[in-house]
Amino acid sequence: MIFRQIFDSVSSTYTYLLASRRGGEALIIDPVLDKVDRYIQLLQELDLKLVKALDTHLHADHITGLGALRDRTRCITVMGEQSNVDVVSMRVGDGDRIEIEGLTLNVLYTPGHTDDSHSFVMADRVFTGDTLLIRGTGRTDFQNGNAGAQYDSIFGKLLRLPDETLVYPAHDYKGDTVSTVAEERAFNPRLQVTSKQQYIDLMNGLDLPNPRMMDVAVPANMRVGMSHEEIARRGWAMSAREASGLVGRPDAILVDLRERREREKHGIIPGSLHAPYPDLADNVRAGGMLHELATATGKRLVFYCAFGERSAMAVQAAQGAGIDAACHIEGGIDAWKKAGGSVVLPG
Ligand SMILES: [Fe+2]
Repeated sequence: MIFRQIFDSVSSTYTYLLASRRGGEALIIDPVLDKVDRYIQLLQELDLKLVKALDTHLHADHITGLGALRDRTRCITVMGEQSNVDVVSMRVGDGDRIEIEGLTLNVLYTPGHTDDSHSFVMADRVFTGDTLLIRGTGRTDFQNGNAGAQYDSIFGKLLRLPDETLVYPAHDYKGDTVSTVAEERAFNPRLQVTSKQQYIDLMNGLDLPNPRMMDVAVPANMRVGMSHEEIARRGWAMSAREASGLVGRPDAILVDLRERREREKHGIIPGSLHAPYPDLADNVRAGGMLHELATATGKRLVFYCAFGERSAMAVQAAQGAGIDAACHIEGGIDAWKKAGGSVVLPG
């Protein structure tokens, strides 16, 4: 496995780059905007293809690298269901799995620091975001933080992982890089409490100043969505309402770019074809499945995904590969459902 812990000294943030092998797919957790050039360089040096970029929560102390990485690598951006962010490609919740080639992260919903905080468990390690830090815990006094919820997340979920589980937080201000569940249970001063109320009192008495970057970072991090204006200007976008007229039409094929789990959880537009986003480049190039389908039948390809991010990238790739009639549904199946469109479970 390839595992890199990259430090941003300005915000004391740890970013993690994971891959199962050289030459394979990679994912990145909590990237920092100012460090995106470094990540891209490292990806090239290790011959990795970035396919997913995750944030554990909406950060207040640095600007996320999610949008820039998406624009430069066409990776899928991932956050929790509760994140108040305009558009990410994929949203996950407790019990979901985030997969790339050779690696799986199990998602734990661990609110408290913020109401959108998640931890990601991978085999022998857990990425705890700002929920559990090394000999500390993330503050709970803004962004819908809640000390009681954090107590439940830490004691009810994170400390129930096996003792030897490695703990990799999103920040460290003292120079520590990794800990374990057993170590934190024994030595983390915030966790030496005898009741939930004692923890709440401890956290509510901290009286911390706001982070320096908060007024800049929070609004910036709520807007990571890509610019859809150019795609619409070229006539490559349609609204969910317009798309509803296409179901059952012989001259159009609806193409679902989402992953199997998303389809099972949220349903699909009836009659749509499944062509997962990670295989897109192969599918749209000459000789590829979608390219052949479009040219052989003359049908219009109409891409959709969860929120319209992957499909916006797909329509550009398809147009670039010479599939002139390709377009996508703005806002994805989320907008489709809000417009009253029917969904069915995948067969
Ligand atoms: Fe945070």
